[in-house]
Amino acid sequence: MTKGWSKSDWRAKPRIQMPDYPDQAALQAVEAQLAKYPPLVFAGEARKLKKQLALAAEGKAFLLQGGDCAESFAEFSADNIRDTFRVMLQMAVVLTYGAKVPVIKVGRMAGQFAKPRSAATEVVGGQELPSYRGDIINGFDFTPDARVPDPARMLQAYTQAAASLNLLRAFSTGGFADIHRVHSWTLGFAEHDKAERYRELSNHISDALDFMNAAGITSETAPSLSTVDFYTSHEALLLEYEEALCRIDSITGQPVAGSGHMIWIGDRTRQPDGAHVEFCRGVLNPIGLKCGPSTTAEDLKVLMAKLNPQNEAGRLTLIARFGAGKVGENLPRLIKAVREEGANVVWSCDPMHGNTIKAASGYKTRPFESVLREVREFFQVHKAEGTIPGGVHFEMTGKDVTECTGGLRAVTDEDLSDRYHTACDPRLNASQSLELAFLVAEELTGFREGARRVAL
Ligand code: PEP
Ligand code: CO
Repeated sequence: MTKGWSKSDWRAKPRIQMPDYPDQAALQAVEAQLAKYPPLVFAGEARKLKKQLALAAEGKAFLLQGGDCAESFAEFSADNIRDTFRVMLQMAVVLTYGAKVPVIKVGRMAGQFAKPRSAATEVVGGQELPSYRGDIINGFDFTPDARVPDPARMLQAYTQAAASLNLLRAFSTGGFADIHRVHSWTLGFAEHDKAERYRELSNHISDALDFMNAAGITSETAPSLSTVDFYTSHEALLLEYEEALCRIDSITGQPVAGSGHMIWIGDRTRQPDGAHVEFCRGVLNPIGLKCGPSTTAEDLKVLMAKLNPQNEAGRLTLIARFGAGKVGENLPRLIKAVREEGANVVWSCDPMHGNTIKAASGYKTRPFESVLREVREFFQVHKAEGTIPGGVHFEMTGKDVTECTGGLRAVTDEDLSDRYHTACDPRLNASQSLELAFLVAEELTGFREGARRVAL
């Protein structure tokens, strides 16, 4: 892709948010071992995802990206993977109905282990220790030993990612993802007495499936009704891990990040001359770039030129995460920068990271209303600008956790302590995630109708 680029060039650039491993010999042994392991994904899959994202940039597909804030070793189980996968499929069916285009499903899964932190240390009960940086780096327990960065954790993360991906691939093609099954779960949700608003849309989907069935379009005659493409993604934060899994695509001869189909650059590590941008610019995968209130138009222009010099469609997804109430002042200026460069990008909305607050109970939470408000503002700005809202990016789980407040089952501040399991940021639970998909589907339907009216 990029002439003169090598997978270790990032080492000469300023790096932040990465650990200083005390045992360099142990680190090098792990890197050498990982470099010999098979990549987790095949380059052809990353290229296929890029083609699908190119359609999202044009409004001919819609991106649904979601999963844990941080995957953890302790929470690793087939049930957790299945439940998140299931709710993402339910959301995808609802969004497909709203958008009338294919929904591209990308999990924050099978690699989302490393976390940027706002402070290098944390203090609990008068004791100061290095911050927890995700299970691939150090331990969550608040003890000096646990917080030492341990390179062996990369091997465990690789193993967990491989097993997760194996299960996701099996679920995707083995019958679990059949649209009729997926929709029957959604009907269960819509029966909830407060879900009346969503019953109509879900009945419409039932009618569409019944009609197709009558017309002879069944899971047997149309295999696309029983299988899905499901992709993985994570923040490319721990560059030793990324470099060790970087491979050469045998078909194009280009370097590919073998750690996941799509990787993204976080809001804290997007310095144009920093290590993270340097690594990501050289691999052929689709790249996400988080854009927050501090992203300047000038930086965005430099980043787009560095990350997508050929202006290839589907290569770059800009993930806007401003916070409810801040989209109107920030998104238009970045859309203007994109327009001035004639850049080809997918616009996605992360309504999570700008809406984290501390509840009176002390828990970090995100009010469902703020999440929804940011999504609505994102759609409104795109409508006003004549640009395309290409996707959404959520922190969510298929479990019935109590981490974000609100939603139709009304999680309150007092409820947060009941099932607060996240290793990092608060996630939408299964019901909140599906409800949000219904509300986004309403936005998409309105958006399309508006666009049709303009076209007429
Ligand atoms: C994240 O997506 O988990 C994250 C840390 O986001 P951001 O870089 O946008 O803060
Ligand atoms: Co997060």
